[in-house]
Amino acid sequence: MNAPEKYLTTPAAQPATGSAHFHESARAQVAGSATYIDDIPEVKGTLHAAPILSNVARGKLRKVDTAEALKMDGVKGVVLAQDIPGDPFLATFVHDEPIFARDTVEFVGQVVGVVVAETVMQARRAARKVKLDIEPLPAIVDVREAAKQQSFVLPPVTVRRGEPEQGIAKAPHRLAGTLEVGGQEHFYLEGQVGYALPLEQDNWWIYSSTQHPGEAQHWVAHALGIEIHAVTVECRRMGGGFGGKETQSGHIAVWAALAARKLKKPVKLRLDRDDDFMVTGKRHPFAYDYEVGYDDTGRLTGLKLVLMANCGWTADLSGPVADRAVFHVDNAYFLGDVEIVSYRCKTNVQSHTAFRGFGGPQGMIVMEAILGDVARALGKDPLDVRKANLYGIGERNVTHYQMPVEDNILEPLISRLEESSRYRARREQIARWNANSPVIKRGLALTPVKFGISFTATFFNQAGALVHVYTDGSVQVNHGGTEMGQGLHTKVLQVVADELGVPFERVRISATDTSKVPNASATAASSGTDLNGRAAQFAARRVRQRLADYVAEKQNCKPEQVVFAHGQVSAPDAVMTWEQLVEDAYKSRVQLWSDGFYKTPKIHYDKHTLTGRPFYYFAYGAAVTEVAIDTLTGENRVLKVDILHDVGKSINPAIDLGQIEGGFVQGMGWLTTEQLVWNDKGYLSTHAPSTYKIPATGDLPPHFKVDFWPEANREDNVGGSKAVGEPPFMLAISVWEALRDAAAAARGDGKVHMDAPATAENVLKALKD
Ligand code: MTE
Ligand code: HPA
Ligand code: MOS
Repeated sequence: MNAPEKYLTTPAAQPATGSAHFHESARAQVAGSATYIDDIPEVKGTLHAAPILSNVARGKLRKVDTAEALKMDGVKGVVLAQDIPGDPFLATFVHDEPIFARDTVEFVGQVVGVVVAETVMQARRAARKVKLDIEPLPAIVDVREAAKQQSFVLPPVTVRRGEPEQGIAKAPHRLAGTLEVGGQEHFYLEGQVGYALPLEQDNWWIYSSTQHPGEAQHWVAHALGIEIHAVTVECRRMGGGFGGKETQSGHIAVWAALAARKLKKPVKLRLDRDDDFMVTGKRHPFAYDYEVGYDDTGRLTGLKLVLMANCGWTADLSGPVADRAVFHVDNAYFLGDVEIVSYRCKTNVQSHTAFRGFGGPQGMIVMEAILGDVARALGKDPLDVRKANLYGIGERNVTHYQMPVEDNILEPLISRLEESSRYRARREQIARWNANSPVIKRGLALTPVKFGISFTATFFNQAGALVHVYTDGSVQVNHGGTEMGQGLHTKVLQVVADELGVPFERVRISATDTSKVPNASATAASSGTDLNGRAAQFAARRVRQRLADYVAEKQNCKPEQVVFAHGQVSAPDAVMTWEQLVEDAYKSRVQLWSDGFYKTPKIHYDKHTLTGRPFYYFAYGAAVTEVAIDTLTGENRVLKVDILHDVGKSINPAIDLGQIEGGFVQGMGWLTTEQLVWNDKGYLSTHAPSTYKIPATGDLPPHFKVDFWPEANREDNVGGSKAVGEPPFMLAISVWEALRDAAAAARGDGKVHMDAPATAENVLKALKD
């Protein structure tokens, strides 16, 4: 399991799980025949909507003048707050978000309504001609200003253990500091899109590019003032979601549905890339204040930390995001005496939302920054300080939220990577290089990841699935999870194929559809396969058990003696093909389909004190990254990356490898080139790829090596696997720490303050005081 390359050549096999089967849509995607929402053939009479955006960060909305827009070519109507038949607020948990702005606007980009026209370009042109009369009010853009003014979307949360003040006061060394870490645009290739079709008797069909069809369904029903059963939401696949389509796809679905209702026509709403940037929320930017005490080995003796999450104008998912940040401040390290205060700050910008890691990255990065600084202050290698602080086995193993870390593999994993990447030898080489290179300085860092798997909202940890066997022996699976490129459907098909003992090709997935599996959770928290894979496995198992009972009765044997494998079914005295059995069983009126349901065991926690066991298990990993910086320009490059990551027993090594590489590169973008700039008027000035730079192929490290940790999940999880979607993202903190290491080498005084992202400007700033 420790050489993924080898698995890439494994042919499709039985058992299907563990083989590097290609993505179930790969061929269609390469051929251009895989259908995304905007590719669905349009129903006759379909109209197109475009949003009307606020151009003021905060103000009183006095008038919306649509006269000029309504006169334009092809324009069929305008839809505003007064056209909402149901609740004018979205059905979010906090219920704080108006669907369309009513008497106030709260950020530049807030949607006031939509213009509907015959073509998408007509709608977009007309939307710009709607005149808004807004009386400006003071706005808050900066997160520290929001914290100072106690401008919050949700009340603060404090987690405390022991006596951190004493731990700091009595320590031989102390350090205090601040840090600012930027947000991140999701930049899914497929922008947000929804297509709403009115059906007979006030029923609705909604195509939505969403990670959470069940929530879009609920929100549409709520806005239309009808019952949930009247709305069906379907999504075959997304062109990327990354958390950006967990809730915020629901807005687009609701806006399209409201327009379709008013105009009594099918309406499609596809955001233009610039509008997508302006309207939708991003990764939460964070600011931090900290104070630590530590001993001569660099081991922390006390920590006081304030986390300020910039949530934007509404709560959205900020509560659980900020909770997850608190849960991940420890990362891989034991924090004895600790106090963490979490502010959920309200600012007049987009409502920030889920993004790969979901607050975890923002929690971990400050701890890695602290340990890097502690090491430099002591003149030690940061790796030694990190090791001195790791969770122990049997002692020093309870998190600050009272969950024992029982599956800890940190020490052996880190040591193995330290050796395989030749960390110590390279540390010496880099020191020699830096001594002889006045302008280009190199840096190196090894950082670990420990990421909690389960939704922090415990009730989300449930899933359902349907498995249908048709009379020709072909199998169709439907589950509540969604496909966004992460390979969920492929893994679920592998699991079902093995449960029924049929080849992968005999099993197909159908689009995610709220009329098949109801009340499904978002596909998020990396738990897609854990939840839906298990639900589908249980559904398939029930069909298999019925078939086994049927065979046992006919063959006079026990059901346990009936074996399903390689497309064949065998009893002690008989062998038949899967197809023969299915046909016989159907004629004997055996039920050939079933549902399955799964809920994650063992988890619970108190959402007020944030204590308990929020996670079923942890996923681990570590990365060693080497970088170079140009001390004259601040430009920087990632040269070498070595990763050792824990995916448990891989269901699909090719997909897992892709998730690790993709997650790492996305994390690298967050911490290096991707910079969101809001000006003092609250206008997002980086709202297109011309000014917002995601990593390109040329930014890939020339040396990029990924290995898998060779051990199954110690908890009982589907196929012995571990979730992989988000954890590798945080391996990229090693890039940022390596850049700080290089900056420290250039400065030579053991100090370096660098805000993230490490743009050329921020690197240059870090070189001076
Ligand atoms: N991989 C691709 N290709 N596209 C995506 O949008 N989203 C990530 C991750 N990997 C994403 C991805 C995020 S934020 C999550 S939570 C998981 O996939 C969700 O899918 P899973 O639970 O099936 O891993
Ligand atoms: N991750 C992603 N999405 C979520 C979570 C989580 O932990 N909790 C609620 N929505
Ligand atoms: Mo992922 S941020 O949990 O959608």
